[in-house]
Amino acid sequence: MQIRQLGAFQVGAISLGCMNLSHAYGKPPPAEQGERVLLAALDAGVTMFDTAALYGFGASETLVGNVLAKHRSQFTLASKGGVAGVQTEDGIKRVIDGRPEALRRNCEDSLRRLRTDVIDLYYLHRWDKKVPIEDSVGAMSDLVSAGKVRSIGLSEVSAPTLRKAHAVHPISAVQTEYSLWTRNPEIAVLDACRELGAAFVAFSPLARGFLCDALHDVSQLDAKDIRRAMPRFSPENYAANLKLLPAYKALAEEAGCTPAQLALAWLLHKAPHIVAIPGTTSVAHLKEDLAAADVRLDAGLVARLETLINDRTVAGNRYSDQSNREVDTEVF
Ligand SMILES: NC(=O)c1ccc[n+]([C@@H]2O[C@H](COP(=O)([O-])OP(=O)(O)OC[C@H]3O[C@@H](n4cnc5c(N)ncnc54)[C@H](OP(=O)(O)O)[C@@H]3O)[C@@H](O)[C@H]2O)c1
Repeated sequence: MQIRQLGAFQVGAISLGCMNLSHAYGKPPPAEQGERVLLAALDAGVTMFDTAALYGFGASETLVGNVLAKHRSQFTLASKGGVAGVQTEDGIKRVIDGRPEALRRNCEDSLRRLRTDVIDLYYLHRWDKKVPIEDSVGAMSDLVSAGKVRSIGLSEVSAPTLRKAHAVHPISAVQTEYSLWTRNPEIAVLDACRELGAAFVAFSPLARGFLCDALHDVSQLDAKDIRRAMPRFSPENYAANLKLLPAYKALAEEAGCTPAQLALAWLLHKAPHIVAIPGTTSVAHLKEDLAAADVRLDAGLVARLETLINDRTVAGNRYSDQSNREVDTEVF
C-alpha cells in the first residue's frame, strides 16, 4: 500500500470509510458483517479508519470501538463532531452544532463509544455557519491541549474558511467529496491544502457506487437510502449518467483494472497529498478497492477519463438544496 502523510501520521493512500457499516445506503449490514470488514481491513494493512458521531447516531463509532479498540496502536483513528443526533419529542434528529460546548460534549461521547482515550484526527463535520469558524476550531484546539484529540481536520469547507481555521490551529486534513463526477475541490481547496501542508481526504471516492458499475436500478434503493435525496440519483438523471458507463468501463479495461479501481487510482494520481476513503460492506470489495493503489495510469488515459466524466458531463447536482446549504460553497 502506498503511504501518504497526514499531519503527524503516515496512512495508507487508500483507507477505510466506516459510514455505510451502520448508516446511509439502505439497511445497514448486521454487526457481524461489519466486524468481518473491519478485521479484514486491519489484516490487509489498512492504517486509517474514518467514522463520525453522526453515522448511525453513534452506531458506527460503537462498532469501530467494539471491534478495533484492542488493536488501537495499529491504526490512525479519525472521527468527527459538530453534527450529531439529538433526542427530540419526534425521535432523534440530525443537528449541526459547532458551539464549543457541543464539540466538547460530542468528543466525550465519541471517546466513550470508540473505547479510547484519544482520537488521532478529529474533524469538524460541517462548519456551523451560526458560529465563527475560529470559535469551533478554538474549542478543538483546547481538546488537543487536553490530550483528547491529537490533530484537527475540517470537512466540506472552502479555501478561505480553511485559511481562517489554520490561523487558529494547524489543520492536518480537509475531508471533502472528490471523485471524477464531483470536482469542486479542484477550484481552490486542493491547492490550499497543499500550500498549508494539510492532507486532502477524498470522501465518496467511488461516487457512492456509481463508478463501481454496481448500481443500475435506482428504483430498487431502500426507502431510507440517502442517495434517494441526491439529484444525481433521481431516476431521470441516473438514467442519463448510466450512459457514461460503457466508455468508462472500456477505459478501466484498458488500464487493466476494475471500474472501482479506476476511480480510486485516478484520485491517487491527481496529487500526492490525497488520501481516498472508500466505504464498503463487503470483504471482497474491500480487497478490490485496496488493490487500486497498485494501478498506474498514463497521462493520455487520464485525459480521456477526465473528458468523459466530470461535473459538466454528469446530470444532476450532487446534493439537494437543503444539503447544499449546509456546505461551505461560497468560494471552493
Ligand atoms: N465528511 C463527510 O461529510 C462524508 C460524507 C460521506 C461520506 N464520508 C466518508 O467517506 C466514506 C466513503 O464514502 P461513501 O461510502 O459515501 O461512498 P463511496 O466510497 O464512494 O461508495 C460506497 C458505495 O460503493 C460500493 N462499493 C465499494 N467498493 C465497491 C466495489 N469494489 N465494487 C462494487 N461496489 C463497491 C459500496 O457498496 P458495497 O457495500 O456493496 O461494497 C457502497 O454502496 C464514508 O464511509 C465516510 O467515512 C464522509
